[in-house]
Amino acid sequence: MNEASSGSGSAGATWCVLVAAGAGERLGGGRPKAFVGLGGRPLLAESLERLDASDWIDAIVVAAPPGWEEPAILLAEELVASKVAAVVTGGATRAESVSVALAEVPADALVVLVHDAARPLVEDGVIERVLGGLAEGVDGVVPALPIGDTVKSVDRGIVSQTVDREALVAVQTPQAFVAGRLRAAYAGELAGATDCASLVERAGGRIAVVAGDRRLVKVTTAADLELVAWLAAEDRR
Ligand code: CTP
Ligand code: MG
Repeated sequence: MNEASSGSGSAGATWCVLVAAGAGERLGGGRPKAFVGLGGRPLLAESLERLDASDWIDAIVVAAPPGWEEPAILLAEELVASKVAAVVTGGATRAESVSVALAEVPADALVVLVHDAARPLVEDGVIERVLGGLAEGVDGVVPALPIGDTVKSVDRGIVSQTVDREALVAVQTPQAFVAGRLRAAYAGELAGATDCASLVERAGGRIAVVAGDRRLVKVTTAADLELVAWLAAEDRR
């Protein structure tokens, strides 16, 4: 395996794109977020190990931060993450990183799962739910949680409206897509997309929502990292 090599072509029907190319500015760890320490190893190790071990996933493409491709390849080797078919250099935005990684997914892949390395504690349960949702004939499936906090619109520091949170959910990854639908969505304009599903929606696709996972916390700030480290340590006990 080497950088941007796609191995021996299609290794199966379900491919996973693992995006890990962000800078981690809000975390401020002095290095890209994927390589900040979590339980004594790079944060990326946690999701990569879990996805590689999942029977639902046939092959993985990792988008690494520019200049961190080699450490990503070495990490995959150390973990014996044998499903990693390619490590690519991520782009300037999440959507661009997904796009570069998608180019390494073979044309005959049926389903693409896209996951953020920033959510380390991915489990088979949520993978099974999003993949199961695809069987219902939609173009994509996202895991989501109800919103606990009261949500307000704010204009220059003053509340303009209290939003009805019953109609809102907070969306996580992994998100699952019919491969062709995701590719078609990524052939269009990528600006302004914070997740893959929004691009598929923009292209007219139908996205279903399944139950997310409270433990699938996204590491954005140092406080999130502390929480995830604690949850990960619980898992090992
Ligand atoms: N991501 C990526 N390429 C980018 C930006 C983000 O692959 N150019 C990935 C991140 O590595 C992360 C996921 O997308 O796994 C969600 O992004 P986010 O949490 O915003 O991570 P960062 O962009 O690294 O953090 P920040 O915005 O604080 O810099
Ligand atoms: Mg970001």
